[in-house]
Amino acid sequence: MTNKIRYFIANWKMYGDLRSLKTLNKVIKFTRSNRNKRFRIIYCPPFTLLSSFSKILKKSKINVGAQNIHEDLNFGPHTGFINSRMVKSLGVNYVILGHSENRVLGETNIKINKKVLSALKSKLNVILCIGETLYEKRKKFTKKILKKQLVQCLKGVNKKTKIIIAYEPVWSIGTGIVPNNVELENNINFIKSLIKRKFKNHIILYGGSVNPKNIEKINQLNLLDGYLIGGASQNSKKLIDIVKKTFN
Ligand code: PGA
Repeated sequence: MTNKIRYFIANWKMYGDLRSLKTLNKVIKFTRSNRNKRFRIIYCPPFTLLSSFSKILKKSKINVGAQNIHEDLNFGPHTGFINSRMVKSLGVNYVILGHSENRVLGETNIKINKKVLSALKSKLNVILCIGETLYEKRKKFTKKILKKQLVQCLKGVNKKTKIIIAYEPVWSIGTGIVPNNVELENNINFIKSLIKRKFKNHIILYGGSVNPKNIEKINQLNLLDGYLIGGASQNSKKLIDIVKKTFN
């Protein structure tokens, strides 16, 4: 077991309302009482809860992130969107970008790159999601796709930036299916080999159906800096279990 910090990103997607705030208490308590200081939890609730999360978690060790932003740094006529400055002004410090659930709606690498640059200008930490679809995996395009996503989405990013990459195979998100460790190791090593050429300060996460039952197996790899957790992260007990099992 190394001393590196492990990241646990709780992506709530389009779930949660004001009643969900009470689920935070257990996790706040856990982070306070736990003597292990080698982990960070970052909650990424829907936009409607960012402000409340930020207030409640202000004095805790838990951070808050948004799930997306508009690429325009300025106020503008973009109905239904918010930008990096608006998010930052709420006390939010992270943003998930390039999630496959947004890529399927038409978000291209070029657009994601604009969002990355905008987020960094507002001093948000970027969690960039990359990953291949099942079709791309079957066609053996995985590495080509991962490389293209990394190169295009990170174009123009200063090499001193702390960059967080979440490898999320699209076929694994919400399906209960996770890559086997050989495949995962292969793809994570590939991502690392590309990213470390430019970014010394990089963090590599895995996301896709992570839960308390499979975390120990995935974690055997000992290659990852943490996990991006969707479904299981809405349940505080499951989230705490995942954190605990990572350090077993
Ligand atoms: P999941 O979602 O854990 O529910 O598969 C992960 C993600 O979409 O980030």
